[in-house]
Amino acid sequence: MKATAIAPANIAFIKFWGKADPKARVPQNDSISMNLSACFTTTTVEFLPELKHDKIKFIEEDIVKAKELERIKQALTYIRKLYKEKYFARVVTQNSFPKAAGIASSASGFASLTMAALFALEIKLPEKDISKLARTFSGTACRSIPDGFVEWQKGTGPDDSYAYSMYPPKYWDICDVLVIVSKTMKKVSTTEGHALAATSPFYNDRIKGMPEKIKLIKYAMQKKDFTDFGNIIENEALNMHAVMLTQTPSLIYWEPQTIEIMKRIQAWRDEKIMESYFTIDAGSSVHVICKKQDTGKLAKLLNNIPGVQQVIVNYPANGARIINEHLF
Ligand code: DP6
Repeated sequence: MKATAIAPANIAFIKFWGKADPKARVPQNDSISMNLSACFTTTTVEFLPELKHDKIKFIEEDIVKAKELERIKQALTYIRKLYKEKYFARVVTQNSFPKAAGIASSASGFASLTMAALFALEIKLPEKDISKLARTFSGTACRSIPDGFVEWQKGTGPDDSYAYSMYPPKYWDICDVLVIVSKTMKKVSTTEGHALAATSPFYNDRIKGMPEKIKLIKYAMQKKDFTDFGNIIENEALNMHAVMLTQTPSLIYWEPQTIEIMKRIQAWRDEKIMESYFTIDAGSSVHVICKKQDTGKLAKLLNNIPGVQQVIVNYPANGARIINEHLF
């Protein structure tokens, strides 16, 4: 059967950096994220008797690395083995946003691939098992399965490390104005970066502080206290990047424009022009979180900064789902 799934990228408020079990992609700490309405991947999968190998096509992508194709093939092989499927698959996939610019394209990519492959094989699983399966292909993909605001519990091992919805998308009217400053792909993959997180002298302290940070952000989310929430996420992003910067070898994902935007966000707050907070994943793009009513003004302010290439407005969104429009 042919099946197509759509899955959102997600932005982490409390981030995943470093794995307890690298092979199964079990993280060292719990993380919290929001699904993004305008950044998503659509993937169609069909297992076919006539194929001699997996055939994978990216629509509208100029550069597809051999490593990326290999990773998708490995995921398909894993699923085939798990469900005793003998046919190879045809896969066509399309991103709604520039890949690898610090937006979790592997999250939406592997979440949509997992969902479509399972449906194509007519396998019905509870949401937490789909989340676990997606996690084994890319950690953050597990957070793109459930709806809205999501927590990924690290669990004690592969069997209880999965994500679930804390709140539906409508729970809180906040917005992620994503600012892209460079469209070149990052040189070091996150998988390689995670593996060296513990070489930073700050890593142990980061992990030690996590339970308290998670408690505080949950409280801020429950009260919908935007100021407390914003201060926590901004500090958390800087904390993760402090680890990245001090790993061996160091990971400097920022571009000059990334820092310029961070400074503007803080200055606009100090000058009472705009209350918004930044967070940054493994890339140069900046995710600026604001209240929904401020979205238009913030997008305009950001668009006026020299060097900004694209601004994408995202609202909280549902997780992965099956759709009827196929890509082939
Ligand atoms: C920096 O899920 O991309 O975006 O499991 O190796 O594919 P792999 O890593 P990935 O991790 C990226 C983590 C992050 C922070 C976050 O989103 O929590």
